[in-house]
Amino acid sequence: MYDNNPTIEDVRKELKSHTNIPLGEDRQGEVLEMKAGQGAKKFYIESYGCQMNFSDSEIVASVLAEEGFSSTRDMEESDLILINTCSIREKAEDTVRKRLTVFNKVKERKPELIVGVLGCMAERLKKKFLEEEKIVDIVVGPDAYRDLPVLVAGAEEGNKGVNVFLSREETYADISPLRLGSNGVSAFISIMRGCDNMCSFCVVPFTRGRERSRDAFSIVSEAQDLYDRGYREVTLLGQNVDSYKWKNPETEEVVSFAQLMEMVALVHPDLRVRFSTSHPKDMTDDVLHMMAKYENICNYIHLPVQSGNSRVLELMNRTYDADWYRERVESIYRIIPDCAISSDIIAGFCTETEEEHQDTLDMIEWARYSMSYMFYYSERPGTLAAKKYEDDIPLEVKKRRLTEIVNLQNRISLEQNRKDIGKTFKVLIEGESKRSDQDFKGRNSQNKMVIFPKQEGLGPGDYVDVTVTEVTSATLKGHIA
Ligand code: 5AD
Ligand code: SF4
Repeated sequence: MYDNNPTIEDVRKELKSHTNIPLGEDRQGEVLEMKAGQGAKKFYIESYGCQMNFSDSEIVASVLAEEGFSSTRDMEESDLILINTCSIREKAEDTVRKRLTVFNKVKERKPELIVGVLGCMAERLKKKFLEEEKIVDIVVGPDAYRDLPVLVAGAEEGNKGVNVFLSREETYADISPLRLGSNGVSAFISIMRGCDNMCSFCVVPFTRGRERSRDAFSIVSEAQDLYDRGYREVTLLGQNVDSYKWKNPETEEVVSFAQLMEMVALVHPDLRVRFSTSHPKDMTDDVLHMMAKYENICNYIHLPVQSGNSRVLELMNRTYDADWYRERVESIYRIIPDCAISSDIIAGFCTETEEEHQDTLDMIEWARYSMSYMFYYSERPGTLAAKKYEDDIPLEVKKRRLTEIVNLQNRISLEQNRKDIGKTFKVLIEGESKRSDQDFKGRNSQNKMVIFPKQEGLGPGDYVDVTVTEVTSATLKGHIA
């Protein structure tokens, strides 16, 4: 949609002609924060699961703030408790049920308290939730958050309510999220919703519905608003960001993910741009070249492999094989030599043999992941795998394979981090280190946590060059260069 070297002026010109989207300069976020501080009724919200869920909770908070609710971190003083839930593994659902028993204790003391279940588990269980958990008053799926005020009002009248309608259009593009628990430096921006991939192990297509992309200008506007309020890093979120595709209804022009990244990168050179998650089948060289072109697009890609074996990948319906994946990794290291890559890995998927498990270990070693999120397979009701394949790997075998994967990944992370000793990185300061009030913590472009002694005159949101002197498998330590 732009020629080779667009400027922020080109983007702004279109932003202004795009009438129905509030502009960044309006400081929507700030107005909202003021409103949220004043409400008489209070809500308390807890979030579980992926970053998308945390981002959704900020939309929920915004919807409630508009209705005159203010947010509280103390559930005892709240009028409304919400829990934004995850269904991805059985354990995630167990955690939610345990939290509900805790909320129940509060409700025993305060019977007028309203309890709402949001997100993926709400979508999966629908009205069954009301039967299974007596304490729950409202059940709201990921596409129904605009309906929250109506559902809460109903519950106040004593009527339990459910809205789990999945939409083909809803992107909450016009809602400015209320940043919850934010460090004031980094924020998530949701750029799309749902998922059209049918990975056989995954419940997400059922809980979050069809894939749809959000208006590109509303995304740029949100990034601009964050920058104006002092934020210095945005993470563009989607289940599969590489398939982002938005058609401008006025011009019929299509914005790809690479182009969207460029539009956001142009907001300001001091605004770092990150994104998650990339799907190996869709991640194109266009995206890699765009990352190489802009210094403020971070050199870090989360590229889940799931398994290193092609037969297992086929059963998982990942639509790529091990060779395809390796080719993608080679392209990353060729186009962005200092890029860090991380992964998601599942141990013990249906019928996985010891040799196939070994292929996954080999892939970790070969791809040199900076880190991974590692799980053993948990069968989810309704998924393709649950319907087609027997969950036949014994739990102790799954656990042993997972331990082998975790141990290897820790070794590789340490080896990768050791290569950083002596190097100097540009670090965005996020705040004080958890371990010591004498140290700052921040991240480098590769998304590695860096710890270093504080220096007067510097604080969260500032950039500083740090030379690495020692490392663990999880962090880099150093001093200001
Ligand atoms: N069992 C175990 N792990 C799963 N994931 C998704 N579904 C399952 C499941 N049924 C993992 C995948 C995905 C990550 C978000 O969670 O690795 O990338
Ligand atoms: Fe996120 Fe998937 Fe969990 Fe839903 S089920 S919260 S999409 S990780």
